[in-house]
Amino acid sequence: MADTIDMLISEEQITARIKELAKQINSDYAEKSVILIITLKGACFFACELAKHLTMPVFMEYIQMTSYEGKSSNGTIIMKLDVPNEIIVGKHVIILEDVIDTGKTLTSIKNIMLEKKPASLAICSLLDKHECRVVPFEGDYIGFTIGDDFVVGYGLDWDQKYRNLPYIGIVR
Ligand code: IMP
Ligand code: MG
Repeated sequence: MADTIDMLISEEQITARIKELAKQINSDYAEKSVILIITLKGACFFACELAKHLTMPVFMEYIQMTSYEGKSSNGTIIMKLDVPNEIIVGKHVIILEDVIDTGKTLTSIKNIMLEKKPASLAICSLLDKHECRVVPFEGDYIGFTIGDDFVVGYGLDWDQKYRNLPYIGIVR
């Protein structure tokens, strides 16, 4: 049977909010160039839409993590695809993520990126499930704060499905 997906945030709401985020970033980073670090695969739709509205010189790099929740379930995050240190050192870096949930993934990514000595580091996430934190973590730019429902679309998947939905929805 096909899954039922209830729309939570429409495509129009998403693109309008991303324009607002871009405006804020344009003002905060005026006269600077930025490196966007895009977390594969979920943040791709968000990153492309955001980048179109940024007015400073923008460079785009990609990272991918896998989290090992093995028998010990320690939630260790391993970088499957990383960015060379020399690309990051001395640069203004913004990490783009699809959703902050427990906070574990971005805590690891942030620590790994800080070791590469950027001039500055900010976190920008399309979604924030703030009430689901297991470790304390705050993003710098947040599109929408949502509840603890599992959401799909606009890059976010459920078992690799539904990334291509143009809106964000809840799988019922
Ligand atoms: P966390 O903050 O370490 O718990 O993990 C964040 C990651 O979990 C995100 O990058 C997503 O890949 C995944 N994730 C968390 N919540 C959702 C959801 O509702 N839909 C799809 N992926 C999710
Ligand atoms: Mg992700």
